[in-house]
Amino acid sequence: MAVICLTSASGSPGVTTTAVGLAFCWPRPVLLVEADPTGGSGILAGFLRGTTPYDAGLIELALSPLGVADALREVVRPLSPSVSLVAGTRTHAQAAALNDVWEPLAVALKELEANGQDVIVDGGRLGLAGSPQQLLDAADVTLLVTRATLPSISAARSWAETVRQPASGWPHPGLLLIGEGQPYRDSDVAKVLGMPVVADLPDDPTAAAVYQRGATPPRRFETGPYVRGLQAAAQSVQAHVARGRFTLIEESAQ
Ligand SMILES: Nc1ncnc2c1ncn2[C@@H]1O[C@H](COP(=O)(O)OP(=O)(O)OP(=O)(O)O)[C@@H](O)[C@H]1O
Ligand SMILES: [Mg+2]
Repeated sequence: MAVICLTSASGSPGVTTTAVGLAFCWPRPVLLVEADPTGGSGILAGFLRGTTPYDAGLIELALSPLGVADALREVVRPLSPSVSLVAGTRTHAQAAALNDVWEPLAVALKELEANGQDVIVDGGRLGLAGSPQQLLDAADVTLLVTRATLPSISAARSWAETVRQPASGWPHPGLLLIGEGQPYRDSDVAKVLGMPVVADLPDDPTAAAVYQRGATPPRRFETGPYVRGLQAAAQSVQAHVARGRFTLIEESAQ
């Protein structure tokens, strides 16, 4: 159905954790792409607790003699029957080699949609060397993840101005707010940052640790507020994608 990118302005608000959590709560098969150029694959070391060797990932995709679409099949690893992963780079030094891969990868990811697979991208922090700019710009939806605290909102503010520019910004920008009401509410944050809060998640460190570092799920995890929040977020993100497409159709008909 769509390519969904998550990114942040600063302060580790929970992009990687939310990307993994959303992938596991997504109602359709999903490919998770770790496009954070920081290196060291936070997902292999975190969610998978280092139990899986780094044998292939984005850098192998970038260096493959095959086209990106064919190479993609070679570097994907299954995490569950419905979630698969393209791991990020081993080190930040590989980031420069990724610059030429983002554009063809954006095209290849869009084509997956035809096979009934959605894509969730961990875009890391905005503005890093090797940042997946073309993916963020080409996604159906790119969401700026922020906490509801003043430092997080303040850091997001200048990037929010940039990414919502109609000419140069993301097609359908939105916010994913973590810790709604602590202390600021969705409506306050949307007003200050000039973008809609597409989804929010509770501040729940114990539950988040399951997707962040592969912690043992606490009791009633599957029916608890965090997983319910992720399921609701998945629905809201899909509705945002559908609205964006409808707007596009309307605009092109005018
Ligand atoms: N909904 C949540 N509630 C509470 N804690 C959370 C939540 N989501 C993530 N966290 C915690 O926030 C911390 C940072 O998470 P994570 O590594 O996913 O952030 P990030 O934005 O990807 O950071 P970086 O920019 O460094 O990659 C981790 O300790 C994680 O467990
Ligand atoms: Mg991260």
